[in-house]
Amino acid sequence: MAATRTFSIIKPDATRRNLTGAVTKMLEDAGLRVVASKRIQMSREQAEGFYDVHRERPFFGELVDFMISGPVVVQVLEGENAVKANRDVMGATNPADADEGTIRKTYAESIEANSVHGSDSEENAANEIKFFFNDDELVG
Ligand code: PPS
Repeated sequence: MAATRTFSIIKPDATRRNLTGAVTKMLEDAGLRVVASKRIQMSREQAEGFYDVHRERPFFGELVDFMISGPVVVQVLEGENAVKANRDVMGATNPADADEGTIRKTYAESIEANSVHGSDSEENAANEIKFFFNDDELVG
């Protein structure tokens, strides 16, 4: 099967605890290759735009506040069935529900401070990659 791409964010709770390398190692061990990566401080406008689909949800304001509370690492990951491979290694949104051995079970602090974001479909992955990266920043 041909390699596909997905989009990942290492969230502020993980960068604050110096877990960028540890989280990336778990992604790599799951068969994913980092083809683009940058550490950024998201603006409020950027975070609101990125999470626009969740604007009507009750936690939207808290989610945006959290995502701009510190640096994040945005990454493009490549591998076989990358969207699913990434979501499998991330684990459930709420770490209380996440399987052993997943990133969220291992590192997440709460449903909000849950260490990683991963695209939920190839279509969303393509849009989320474009939101943060130019084509010439992706080096496979
Ligand atoms: S749900 O309820 O399972 O559909 O939630 P989900 O679509 O996975 O969540 C979407 C993103 O919102 C975050 N989230 C929250 N943030 C703060 N507070 C609460 N209660 C909360 N619930 C969900 C969740 O981590 C998802 O963030 P991303 O970055 O997409 O992983």
